[in-house]
Amino acid sequence: MTQYIFVTRKLPENLLDPLRSIGVVDIWEQDSPCPRSVLLEKAKKADALLTMLSDRVDEELLQKAKKLKIVANLAVGYDNIDLEASKKYGVTVTNTPDVLTDTTADLTFALLMAAARRLVEAAEYVKEGKWTGWSPFLLAGSDIHHKTIGIVGMGKIGEAVARRAKGFDMEILYHNRSKKPDVEKELGAKYCTFDELLEKADFVVNLTPLTNETKNLFDEEAFKKMKTSAIFVNAGRGASVDENALYNALKTGEIAGCGLDVFKEEPIDSNHPLLSLKQVVALPHIGSASRETRIKMIELCVENIQRVLTGEKPKTAVV
Ligand code: DGY
Repeated sequence: MTQYIFVTRKLPENLLDPLRSIGVVDIWEQDSPCPRSVLLEKAKKADALLTMLSDRVDEELLQKAKKLKIVANLAVGYDNIDLEASKKYGVTVTNTPDVLTDTTADLTFALLMAAARRLVEAAEYVKEGKWTGWSPFLLAGSDIHHKTIGIVGMGKIGEAVARRAKGFDMEILYHNRSKKPDVEKELGAKYCTFDELLEKADFVVNLTPLTNETKNLFDEEAFKKMKTSAIFVNAGRGASVDENALYNALKTGEIAGCGLDVFKEEPIDSNHPLLSLKQVVALPHIGSASRETRIKMIELCVENIQRVLTGEKPKTAVV
């Protein structure tokens, strides 16, 4: 019987071609999220779903999807998928680790640098015709080299960020569920408690996956513990941050600035108070968004679907 594969976003046709030899490929032909009602309808008859991190794959969907064998999520994170329910219904879930590690680390470090050296503010200043002449402290930011970076969530992306930090002669602190002796040896990184890291780091970088333990991890108390000169960078998930607390911390000078690639609600409302602050660099969740890496991520999803639908083991299974 022909297999039915539903792809929830417009993706390059040629990259989906390998799937056409094993089934019918149906694509949500828009570069905007597939409405929930459409996803539920398509899931009912799907053998495979190629999903985005904006698609919610929950019990409601999974119990309707009687034929579903695999959900291939185009992201390393999978907090949009109910793993317990996937196990219960025998649906394989895959993600896209490794292929996006360096690209996401590049963006995380770029965000740190942009916030520290006020790059967005400075670029706007020039374009808006405000630049009247050189001045010693015009748009002066803070140094990055020889400062202390504190990485919360030392997975592969955290390690890649630490490698970049080493190139800037930074002192590297990290907090993680488990200690990483190899990383400590290679990069001279030091393990810290969460509180110790918050107190000591000039740059606090969140790269944790979203779980029950990391939800609202960065709350009022956490920001209070940071240095008043600290810059907070979030390239993990928005829900790990209490955004009201972050806004208050920035507004009252408890911390100096932040770089955010992720938000509680995505897209963030353009009237959100955080976006009114000049010390906030905000990006539209583009951590892994280089052309090369996005192609690799799509290819990996396609390979995982091909494998599962032909009875092989997927390459990067989460469950
Ligand atoms: C992921 O893959 O989980 C990232 O957030 C995408 O940029």
